Parts: sequence; structure tokens; C-alpha cells
Amino acid sequence: PIASIRSRRVWDSRGNPAVEVDVRLESGALGRAIAPSGASRGTREALDLRDGGKAFGGKGVKKALAAVNDVIAPALIGIEAGEQERVDAAILALDGSPLKEKLGGNATVATSLAVLHAAAADSGTPLWRHVADRYRHTPSLPLPEIQIFGGGAHAGRRVDIQDFMIMVPGASSLDEVMEVTNEVYFAAGDIMASRGKIAGVADEGGWWPVFDSNEEALETLVSAIEKAGEKPGERVVISLDIAASEFGQDGRYRLALEDRELDSAAMIDMLGDWLDAYPIASIEDPLGEDDADGMEEFTRRFGERVQIIGDDYLVTNAGLVEQAAARGACNAVLVKVNQAGTVTESINTFDAAQAAGWRSIVSARSGETEDVSISHLATGLGGGQLKVGSFARSERMAKWNECLRIQDELGASAFVGGRPLAGTWWG
Ligand code: PGA
Ligand code: ZN
Repeated sequence: PIASIRSRRVWDSRGNPAVEVDVRLESGALGRAIAPSGASRGTREALDLRDGGKAFGGKGVKKALAAVNDVIAPALIGIEAGEQERVDAAILALDGSPLKEKLGGNATVATSLAVLHAAAADSGTPLWRHVADRYRHTPSLPLPEIQIFGGGAHAGRRVDIQDFMIMVPGASSLDEVMEVTNEVYFAAGDIMASRGKIAGVADEGGWWPVFDSNEEALETLVSAIEKAGEKPGERVVISLDIAASEFGQDGRYRLALEDRELDSAAMIDMLGDWLDAYPIASIEDPLGEDDADGMEEFTRRFGERVQIIGDDYLVTNAGLVEQAAARGACNAVLVKVNQAGTVTESINTFDAAQAAGWRSIVSARSGETEDVSISHLATGLGGGQLKVGSFARSERMAKWNECLRIQDELGASAFVGGRPLAGTWWG
């Protein structure tokens, strides 16, 4: 049973306050987790509780820490850590607000994840194995989506599109993915430096670009893949997070970099042209979170050949996944535990996606820490894909490196390789 729950303020990769929770069991086992934090958030996702006011840009977490210590902890003491559903139901009952704004998604997710860690520690198994056993999933090492350039809300909106990423579905091991990514990442940096197109690194460790158009980013990414000795579209493919809700509303999309505005149909046509011209295997939030018709139309036109992921559009919500699947909008969901606010709701979303025949991509946030829970969740749930940001900065590398440690326990043959993308145009 849970003996004590304690929160503390720590600091995230952007230097902002974050909530860490320690769950101690009567056996002595300890579970610990830190809440991440997004910058391009969906309007329907769980809300972090922040103090407001002048200090720390209003991002203080005193109220969230108090919610853990004074409200959540007393209700959970004595419950078995293995009873994750009961724990999460108790948290939900205490909160009662639609977006968890009362206790704060940061308070709930750190607690919920820490309980999961404690249960794993108690059974003496690594978290990935505990998750696989507990939820009866077949574990597998995920295929990474790794960012090469940042953009959107993660790079001062220097380009409109948020994530320019690669996947290496043609690799036969996770080590091979890392090797290829290293080559592409530095090739991209070299090309940009030689053209005067680089301004440092963005929030998730990808290069901060100084491009004149969104397509220049795609062209440069293709050049980087070639410079790394790869033929684009073979072992290496491109993955994009358009994060269209950041620049689109009510069916109008404002591309600031190119000083033009597109309606939903023109946006779909532009992305369709990109799909024809570049080896893109996956695309996230191609339309805004309020543009369900656009999502449906985009999926109708391109769903056979490309993975279409809902992030802001689906906010790790099982009900929204079911609705979207029923109307044929998207064919994959991003799973961010802090969007849902509890482990149970996140896994329910994962399972809803699986039931719909969709793929799932476990994902980090742009504000991260040394917490590596998602490497374990991605492996234990066996969803096949993991999105963490780029190939630089330790809050990102910690997740990739944890996957390599898990590989040592699970065996290299558990790497899914290109299987999760089979059926897309390149597969
Ligand atoms: P966020 O962005 O963590 O800043 O919300 C990540 C994403 O859009 O996938
Ligand atoms: Zn996204």
C-alpha cells in the first residue's frame, strides 16, 4: 500500500518550475515522476495549475504542489500502488473539473505516473515490463521520430511548421537509427551553417532555422539526408508535425513566413503537393484542432499512403479518438500522458486507437526533464513509435539512451523497425 506521497518543485528544460512527486510504499519501494509541459497545447487537454503573478513568468507551481500534498495524498494513502485504475479514479473524483484545472494536470500526471513507477519498483521489474504485464501488451522497442529542425512555437515562429523530423524505418536496430540520425542531424547543421541559415537550437534540440519558406526546410532536410549518404525515402523518411492549430483558426491558415493565408482546401492542397514532392511518411495535426471537416477530407485523400496523427486534435482522449475514427479523420494518435492527466486515461486512449486499427505514438512535450517514463511506456505498450524531440540536449537524449538500456534487457530483436509504418507509400 501507498505509505506517503510528497511533491517538490524541480525545473524543466526551459528553466520553468515543474512538479515532481515521490510515492513511497509501505514496502519501502519508491516511485518518482516529473510532469512535462507543452508550449503548443491543444485547447481540450488537461490544464497545468500555475500560480500566476509576477514570479517565474506566472509559472510557479506552489498551488500544484499543495494539491498533491494536501488534497491528493490523503486520499491515496493506503491504496495498493498496483491499483492504478482506483488511484486514477480517486484523482478524477477529487478534481471534478473538465480539464483538471482544479488540481492541475501537472499535479495529477506526476502523481499518477509516480504510482505506476512505485508499483513497478515494488514488483522488482523495470517499468516497461511492468506496463507490458499489467496491461497485457506485447512489449517492443519503438521506432523513433527525431526532430532535425524546430519551428513554430518552439523556435520563435521562425518557420510556421513546428517539427521537421526523420524516421529510419529501414533500420534493423535501434543502434542503427541512432547512427543514421547522428549523421543526418550534423549534415543538416553543416548545410545550414554554410548557407547562413542557422541560429542555434530550438526548444527540443533541433536546429533553429533561418529559412525563407517552409518548403526550404523540406528541401534542406532532403539535402541533409543525401549528405548523410542516404537516398531519401529508402532507409530514411520524413515526418512532419504541422501543429496547424498554432497558425490556423476557423478554417483559415496564416503562413506568416510566406505572408499568405490559405483556406482549409488550399492548405490540404499545399500539404498534398508536399506529400508528392518529398518522402513524407507521417504528418501530425495537418489541420487545426477546430477543423474536423478538414481532417476528414485530408484523411480521405491521403490516409492510404501516409500516417496522419492527431495531437492537438485528439489530446490523448479516448472519446475523441473514437469519434474521429468513426468519421474517418486521422489514422493515428499521439499519446501524451500529461494531455490526459492520468496513466489510466492515457492507456485507455492507446487501447481505443488500437481497437480502431490506428497506430499510436507515445510522445514527450517541448518542456521536458530527465524523467524517462515515456521510453518505458512506449516499449511496454508496444505501440511501435516514440517522439521525443531532437538528437541533442540531455532531456531528449535521456529518453533515447533509456531505450538503448531497455534494448539490453529486452533484446535487440524486439525493435519494431518499419513495421508500424507498413502500408504507407514507402512500405
Ligand atoms: P508541445 O509540442 O509539447 O509544445 O505542446 C509538442 C507537439 O506538438 O507534438
Ligand atoms: Zn504536435
